[in-house]
Amino acid sequence: MTVHERTQVGIVGAGPAGLLLSHLLALGGIDSVCVENRSRAYCEARQRAGMLESTTVDLLRAVGLGIRLDAEGLPHNGIYLQFDGERHRLDFRELTGGRQLMIYAQTEIVKDLIAARIAAGAALEFEVSDTSVAGFDSGRPVLRYTDARGERHEVRCDAIAGCDGFHGITRPSIPAGGLTMLAERSYPYAWLGILAAAPPSTDEVIYCRHDNGFALHSMRTPEVGRLYLQVPADEDINNWPDDRIWAELATRFALPSWALTSGPVLQKSITPMRSFVAAPMRHGRLFLAGDAAHIVPPTGAKGLNLAVADVTALATALVRLLRDGDPSLAAAYSDYCLERVWRSTHLSWWMTSMLHITPGQDQFESRLQLAQLRHLVTSKSAATMLAETYTGYAPLHYDPTTHLDAPALWGSTSAA
Ligand code: FAD
Ligand code: DHB
Repeated sequence: MTVHERTQVGIVGAGPAGLLLSHLLALGGIDSVCVENRSRAYCEARQRAGMLESTTVDLLRAVGLGIRLDAEGLPHNGIYLQFDGERHRLDFRELTGGRQLMIYAQTEIVKDLIAARIAAGAALEFEVSDTSVAGFDSGRPVLRYTDARGERHEVRCDAIAGCDGFHGITRPSIPAGGLTMLAERSYPYAWLGILAAAPPSTDEVIYCRHDNGFALHSMRTPEVGRLYLQVPADEDINNWPDDRIWAELATRFALPSWALTSGPVLQKSITPMRSFVAAPMRHGRLFLAGDAAHIVPPTGAKGLNLAVADVTALATALVRLLRDGDPSLAAAYSDYCLERVWRSTHLSWWMTSMLHITPGQDQFESRLQLAQLRHLVTSKSAATMLAETYTGYAPLHYDPTTHLDAPALWGSTSAA
């Protein structure tokens, strides 16, 4: 038997994009059903991003999600760039006139969002299967899924949001020709990431270019470090016992009178690196957001921040469409988001290319990387360009009562 239901927005995926969209829509008086094929525990434990742009932090605070973020997040004012046996600090706060980053893990944002949605009585279903979307061309979209108890649901919606990540089902549901641009780049290396019960050996994140490959030292709490190593693409994690990981991290980060504190590895995984952009991010009444529409290699920490920016715009557009009958922001959604997406795609491609060692890399490439890094740590204008792009673009506003048109609301993603 199929249960027939009705909602305004059907949301596929309860990652940061889907959960935040459902939260923002509720603030604007729009109801939604959000379905997720993993369990709540899995979503809350999945280790991913951690570095939040100042614009993301401000948005989360403004929509009631700042309490634990401010109590437990680790404010950061800049980064270290290490290359050629030297470590240099870039003070992003000073370079941008006050913008501050925050380390607050994606797992914690997801926990905060799930708690807020459940407290608000939201329709949020975990462990669903056989999710499908249809009818978004006809203006009568339908979301179908089987719930954790095995009951089949058919939900009539006014719009569907594809927030189901890169491997989800919404983007492939768009008929052939519906996506007019698919741009992709894969990289010949991957990241091995660890979460470790080891106090961070640095006060701010270190991006390190070493002849053995890239390394990144980040953190989650004053007791827990998050570190990454460049490894070959398709590397087998079994080739990396904990001792080998710590030894390689120590080699890449080595500096006189500095030591890396090691500790038990709590979790480790390998992430492939890819850039991907699909456009437009809208097909009829189906709107794509976050990793469902685009992914970036993790260098520069843009993925989660882009997902937040997308759904902030999408929530405003859907409130205007569904509450006021005004389609103008929905029409402008894709172009507006893609401007930011391409800037982040460039930043993450550029940081990746500058800091990683390509197999077979020659002297020419190495010297270009080092020249670029040297320029960043010696030229204030070069450092400012990185600082502005790394810390965020134009502020993200969410005001569901706004009646501004797209040019006034979203004139440009550039910071004022
Ligand atoms: P997701 O977080 O992928 O959420 C999509 C959700 O949809 C998932 O919960 C998924 O289970 C669900 N779903 C999929 N298919 C279906 C279906 N058929 N039905 C129902 N639900 C479905 N970014 C950084 O900035 N720094 C990092 O260090 C970093 N590390 C990463 C490591 C990994 C392994 C990955 C995959 C990504 C990483 N990212 C990182 C990127 C960042 O985490 C993502 O950009 C962010 O998660 C995007 O959020 P999202 O909600 O769009 O997608
Ligand atoms: C983190 C991840 C990144 O990709 C990055 O560039 C900086 C920090 C992190 O997981 O903390």
